[in-house]
Amino acid sequence: MEQFDIQKISSADIDHAVEIGEKVWWVGRYMPDDLFQCNAYLIEHGDQSVLIDPGGHLTFEHVRRKVEEVVPFSSIRYFICHHQDPDITASLKIIEKIPGLRPDAVVVTHWRARELIKHYAIKLPFREVEEHHWQLDMGGRLLLFVFTPYLHFPGAFCTFDVTTGILFSSDIFGGMTHEWSLVARDESYFEDIRPFHEHYMPSREILSHSLMKIEELPLKLIAPQHGSILHGGLISFIIGKLKQLDCGIFALAGDNTDIRRLSFLNKTLKDITNTVIIYRDFRDIANALLEILRRTLPATSIEFHTKTLEGEPLYLAPETRYRSVVESLPEELSGVLGADRAAWYAGNAASYKKMSLQARPVQVRGDIREWCLLIPLFPLEGGRAEAAAVIRLAHDIKMTEDVDRLLGQMSGTFAIAVERETFYHMLDFERCKFYEQSIRDSLTGLYSRFYMEETLKRLMHAQDRNEKYGISMSMFDLDHFKRINDTHGHAAGDEVIKKVAATITGSIRASDIAVRYGGEEFAVFLMGNSAEECVTVAEKIRNKVKEIALDGPMSGKTLSVSAGVAMRRRNESLADFLRRADKALYHAKASGRDRVVMLED
Ligand SMILES: [Fe+2]
Ligand SMILES: [Fe+2]
Repeated sequence: MEQFDIQKISSADIDHAVEIGEKVWWVGRYMPDDLFQCNAYLIEHGDQSVLIDPGGHLTFEHVRRKVEEVVPFSSIRYFICHHQDPDITASLKIIEKIPGLRPDAVVVTHWRARELIKHYAIKLPFREVEEHHWQLDMGGRLLLFVFTPYLHFPGAFCTFDVTTGILFSSDIFGGMTHEWSLVARDESYFEDIRPFHEHYMPSREILSHSLMKIEELPLKLIAPQHGSILHGGLISFIIGKLKQLDCGIFALAGDNTDIRRLSFLNKTLKDITNTVIIYRDFRDIANALLEILRRTLPATSIEFHTKTLEGEPLYLAPETRYRSVVESLPEELSGVLGADRAAWYAGNAASYKKMSLQARPVQVRGDIREWCLLIPLFPLEGGRAEAAAVIRLAHDIKMTEDVDRLLGQMSGTFAIAVERETFYHMLDFERCKFYEQSIRDSLTGLYSRFYMEETLKRLMHAQDRNEKYGISMSMFDLDHFKRINDTHGHAAGDEVIKKVAATITGSIRASDIAVRYGGEEFAVFLMGNSAEECVTVAEKIRNKVKEIALDGPMSGKTLSVSAGVAMRRRNESLADFLRRADKALYHAKASGRDRVVMLED
């Protein structure tokens, strides 16, 4: 056989030995209705022939017959046993009794397997792969052994035939299927490989480690002990898929052995978990989870209700693109947030509750009531629900164990995502609160100097680029304020400051900037006005301050302010600008108070 004739191998009569490569023969036995088809392979090499993974009691009689179609059994010198499982080695006890067996026949294996195989009490000697440089020279034909520890046995290995490029991979690449064929038909074969590896291989990390070694070989064909032969582009496709596969998880799956169903659930669980890892945006997480739900349920949308630490009710729904908004809890859902975990499970057999819920008002659907699944979201630690997910359904559904399991798995992910979103919401809220505090004076509500500096930087920059954005400043100082404080106390002083501030705010446009500059000092910035207009505004404020009615012991007294006005020059620094306004104010004070002064340049 010059090249691999896949067509010919695929259509070969499996009741006989099938040549799959140059002097390489499939000599397995097809067992109808068996998930685990066992393949044995023969490398024909005169009296140095090799039999790979000879098999157990269910298959060996057929294996022997097929071997003898090709070579006399007495030609076999090496029996390679990739690990010690009975489907590989139970036949050794039969083999050693075959008349005419070569006296120098050996079992080729790893010492870890030898220690177990010897319990068959066989007389056949062993040849350990690790003691012979991981290779076997059959005399003109070289076999390389690839150590694949823990897949699935600690001493497991594979055999690579350098002559043909065939890898005898033992349990790796094995498939479990009701519809067996000698050669894998297409990429859908991965769905047969998946459950076998999920159940038998210990972990993705361990599997990937060996797959990387295997990939380095010039592979032409992979001949596994179970399932079907892989060839061509299928090899790299399957290796790529296997590297992504989570294995070993069914050790935790209880006693349910419905393999395909578990496999589907496993994939779903992995997808659910991945959403919170892959996506940061809550909307992306919600949409991805909805897509996953739709594989099983007629879900139309998901929405969430939760509360901040301060008890503020939050609502996350597709209408607001899952941005958290403050909205009270619908009556139907009261009793869910804060629900006790134990009490909830006692009252609702599963984690969810099937109910109908008023259609959302935004959707204007009259009083149509929709089917919903209501899922309280319990935190990882702590017994009270901190959030609830509402899954809206197109129609009523029948609850099955799988749906229950799906919702159970999803609720944990929902809980994490909603908790994270609530945390972001609170951070945002705190940030806004802090920012508001830092830009406003707490007594008067006027802007702070911090805000003034930040904002003026931008406005001055705009003015420097285009002079039509004129900026003026009036600096006000309340006359004789110290006297008020000394005579009537600080509380009365604060009241006066508040009234003056309110007078200033009431005299300017919303777009103007009024700042509490110091104790009894105020600054007002106007944009785009002429010098005359600025003086007019300052005069207006001065006059209105005189009209402020005071009560209590101060009633009948009149307040007054002095003001200095300055127009900003192009490219002038804020410090210089302030200094000029201050200088004008000094002149207003020095020349008798209760007046507005603007100095000539
Ligand atoms: Fe095995
Ligand atoms: Fe096996």
